Amino acid sequence: MTNNIYFIANWKMYGGTSSLSNLNKLINLSKLKKYSKAKIIYFPPFTLIHNFINKVKRSKISVGGQNCHHVKNYGSFTGSISPKMLKDLGCKYVILGHSENRTAGETNDDINKKIKSALNKNLKIIFCIGETLLEKRNKITHSVLKKQINHGLKGIKNFRNILIAYEPVWSIGTGIIPKENELNLNIAKIRKLISKKTKIKLPILYGGSVNDKNINNLKNISGIKGFLVGSASQKTKKFIDIIKKTIN
Ligand code: PGA
Repeated sequence: MTNNIYFIANWKMYGGTSSLSNLNKLINLSKLKKYSKAKIIYFPPFTLIHNFINKVKRSKISVGGQNCHHVKNYGSFTGSISPKMLKDLGCKYVILGHSENRTAGETNDDINKKIKSALNKNLKIIFCIGETLLEKRNKITHSVLKKQINHGLKGIKNFRNILIAYEPVWSIGTGIIPKENELNLNIAKIRKLISKKTKIKLPILYGGSVNDKNINNLKNISGIKGFLVGSASQKTKKFIDIIKKTIN
């Protein structure tokens, strides 16, 4: 395994063509030797993927899609984007299983089909898992994680292109992050569940209200190989601070 540290910028349904002008400082930072282990990946809305790819093409920053359809090539699915389409645009990654899509009805089975199709098209997967507040209160976090991992990754044999993002649903967009011991326990559980499937040590990232302040605590948690950043990634200065504070 490499010692890359992943910084995922998930822009969700935000941003227009004028939003890209702020990226120059980040592009410059990505070229510095000091930050060579920072693996920066942008996930803009589909409408901006092409613009982003053009913008970052001379840097080491990658671009991915925030979701995709489970049919890998083409089909009559109005409003959907396939893994082939993402690949054609120049995307290297796709986020799958994000809680905002799970809440909208996406099942573990849907996610499993999407992962298989996206892997087939040589996309790398950011596979999101995490418990809701109710599940946490009912103390079933570990069985929820087990189900998400076992169903989501069912039948997958090659794990080389999969990264796990542990995102407690109650932490996304709330400003609340888990306590250190809780995070350690859950990351250890995820590690154990994954090790039953593959010998490869998949990178485990943390996501949920990561910002330029709490990063000082989060970066010290062993076993976390990077961060999935939502709202703070839309402000380039904050995103740069997160990267700088993690790697110094
Ligand atoms: P947030 O979003 O950083 O705004 O909480 C995280 C995510 O996209 O899952």
